[in-house]
Amino acid sequence: MRHFDRDFLTPSLYSDRMRVHVDSSKCQGHNRCYALAPELFDVDDYGNAFELNEGVVPAGLEDKARLAAANCPEFAIIIED
Ligand code: F3S
Repeated sequence: MRHFDRDFLTPSLYSDRMRVHVDSSKCQGHNRCYALAPELFDVDDYGNAFELNEGVVPAGLEDKARLAAANCPEFAIIIED
């Protein structure tokens, strides 16, 4: 009998996608990320950013993710790819 790792059997359309994450301990609410990539970021009532779509960057928006990260003066955006 063969045994499979549960994660191996879990289908994921996004497993190989770039991800972004806002480090809330660094974010100071400059909102450049939201201005540059509203498809990827939103801001809360205090003006601090958070990532949309659980951080998964849809295909074609990778450059916007990099642009947002490069323009955050607090270096609060982390990219995993
Ligand atoms: Fe925060 Fe940087 Fe965006 S400071 S609001 S993550 S540009």
